Amino acid sequence: MKIIVVGATGTIGRAVVEELAPRHELVKVGNRSGDVTVDITSTASIAQMYETIGAFDALISTTGQGYFGDFASLTETEMAVGIQSKLMGQINLVLLGRQLIRDQGSFTLTSGILSQDPVPGGAALSMVNAGIDGFVVGAAIDLTRGIRINAVSPGVVLESMDLYGPYFRGHDPVPVARVARAFSKSVEGRLNGQILRVY
Ligand SMILES: NC(=O)c1ccc[n+]([C@@H]2O[C@H](COP(=O)([O-])OP(=O)(O)OC[C@H]3O[C@@H](n4cnc5c(N)ncnc54)[C@H](OP(=O)(O)O)[C@@H]3O)[C@@H](O)[C@H]2O)c1
Repeated sequence: MKIIVVGATGTIGRAVVEELAPRHELVKVGNRSGDVTVDITSTASIAQMYETIGAFDALISTTGQGYFGDFASLTETEMAVGIQSKLMGQINLVLLGRQLIRDQGSFTLTSGILSQDPVPGGAALSMVNAGIDGFVVGAAIDLTRGIRINAVSPGVVLESMDLYGPYFRGHDPVPVARVARAFSKSVEGRLNGQILRVY
């Protein structure tokens, strides 16, 4: 399969590339580097990415930013960061790609554990992750031509503990290779409309 991996240069994306590269043709997409670059907060940039890449069988997104921080001072502007990037950025990858993807293709987005298992300061990301999961459930029944959509919802990743460990006290970190296998299951299996939780 020809598989686009948006976020291929990140912690989870690199593991997804390692998992799938032996079996598939991958197009590695990052923000600043990669075979192709994109800014998912811009629909023009996403459209340009699809035009550059051409026909494809699957798109995996392991990207998207959101605000994390003190709830007492949380503002609408801070909430909007995750809506524009992790939520609408990933949704726009689907909206702009759904006519271009080949029959029987698949989209796999990334959400996260915070929609189910919150941590202090994570309300904005809890909202975004729940939104992604909801979009996947709804879009799955409307996609045509045998096209599927799933989300992988990882727990905090072991390889990211230097960054996120202080915010996820008591959580069991997940090895990134396990998260990558959930993307394999979504793309190489037949699941549709599922949230693949890797906690
Ligand atoms: N790591 C965890 O513990 C964990 C747990 C649960 C969920 N998640 C979710 O998984 C996703 C990936 O996390 P990660 O830790 O692998 O992130 P990461 O290491 O920071 O990598 C982010 C990736 O996204 C790309 N990117 C950044 N801004 C972009 C933009 N505006 N448009 C397109 N691409 C952009 C980066 O490209 P460049 O390298 O070129 O900047 C990079 O490839 C995020 O949505 C995160 O919320 C992560």
